Amino acid sequence: MQILVVKDYDAMSQQASHLIAQEMKKNPCAVLGLATGSTPIGTYKELIRMYREEHLDFSRITTFNLDEYAGLDTSHPNSYSYYMRVEFFDHINIKKENTHIPDGKIKDLNMCCRYYDQSIEQAGGIDFQLLGIGPNGHIAFIEPDEALSVHTNIVTLTKETIAANSRFFSSPDEVPRQAISMGVGSILQARKIVLLANGVGKAQAIKNLLASDKVSTQIPASFLYLHPQATIIVDEAAYSLVL
Ligand code: F6R
Repeated sequence: MQILVVKDYDAMSQQASHLIAQEMKKNPCAVLGLATGSTPIGTYKELIRMYREEHLDFSRITTFNLDEYAGLDTSHPNSYSYYMRVEFFDHINIKKENTHIPDGKIKDLNMCCRYYDQSIEQAGGIDFQLLGIGPNGHIAFIEPDEALSVHTNIVTLTKETIAANSRFFSSPDEVPRQAISMGVGSILQARKIVLLANGVGKAQAIKNLLASDKVSTQIPASFLYLHPQATIIVDEAAYSLVL
């Protein structure tokens, strides 16, 4: 696993967007795996700038998001569908039909999970997967547990994740308790993976992750050690507890 320590959030976002743009220029039909949350907002902003000012072309790009809250309609301001439109898709020339996010409102969530992995496969697999990391070491909504699902599945959010994500809701009670999330196997099949981490709030998670090269289901991000092309871009604040 390659580790790039950069100065701050802006430098992390610059580096990540540069890598994504490079992938897109090499392969204009690339399949991108995308994350939500606070971490990738700067990366999306920079990609939007590149689209506007440098004609970075999204017209043949396909995307798959990592996860979605169960029970939230795509029009709900806290749904990841809404986030992706507002923070990214509405500002670039991507085709709506080429963007994929699990449907948290569908009746048969299990079917949605199976269909999601099949769709990724049919698209030829993910070329470049962007990830954030939770304070508890989760990636996507793969929470620390005794065992982790390989495929896209329905997950129950931990108290820690509900607390961390409650900042986007008016109260912790409003945070959905379940989500649909890509599994560890779905993520590890991506040809390239870049995990971003910034700020002191991620320092403990990064310390735990880098403390050893052991894979642990209690630190889901540690599974990236098994990937031949995984990179972590971490800012100085998130790296501050690593000796
Ligand atoms: C969201 C996702 C999550 C976040 C993680 C960090 O799609 O996959 O794993 O990346 O919870 O969230 P932020 O960036 O808000 O700190």
